[in-house]
Amino acid sequence: MKMKISAELAQEINDQINKELFSEYYYLSMAAYLESENLPGFANFFVVQAQEEHFHAMKFYQYLNERGARVHLEAIEKPKSDFESALEVFELAYEHEVFVSELINKLMDIAISDKDHASKGFLQWFVDEQVEEESSMEGYINHLNRIGDNSYGILMLDKELAGRVFTPPATTQN
Ligand code: FEO
Repeated sequence: MKMKISAELAQEINDQINKELFSEYYYLSMAAYLESENLPGFANFFVVQAQEEHFHAMKFYQYLNERGARVHLEAIEKPKSDFESALEVFELAYEHEVFVSELINKLMDIAISDKDHASKGFLQWFVDEQVEEESSMEGYINHLNRIGDNSYGILMLDKELAGRVFTPPATTQN
């Protein structure tokens, strides 16, 4: 199949598959820590977050295949596994999402300079998704800061987070 995407963009998207799989691993590591702290609802939130990251990785994987580019998988970096508190976990998750947004913006920059309209359309979904992910993490940081060390507040939030389930995000390209 003829490649319908620039070699540079194909390479960068291939790298992004690795970053999304690392994100999955990182959030699963956060979930394992929260589980060990007897916060099953918080842990569930990050298990679902890890599932979303897997979905993102597969979306990039399928896109490269659809555009006739070859996927090459690389080693996944070992994630941090010790954390100080649920608040630190959300702060690190937020920082990580900001980092991922920068990577997505760089992919979009390449698609724009390539005048690759198909890739621009594909990447726009991720641009929008990042706005939502950053805002969700920020919201929980604010919530946790308000709760402080009030154990009833933590318990209520844990109950709320226990209800999160993975539903494949609405997308036109999967
Ligand atoms: Fe794949 Fe959380 O961005």
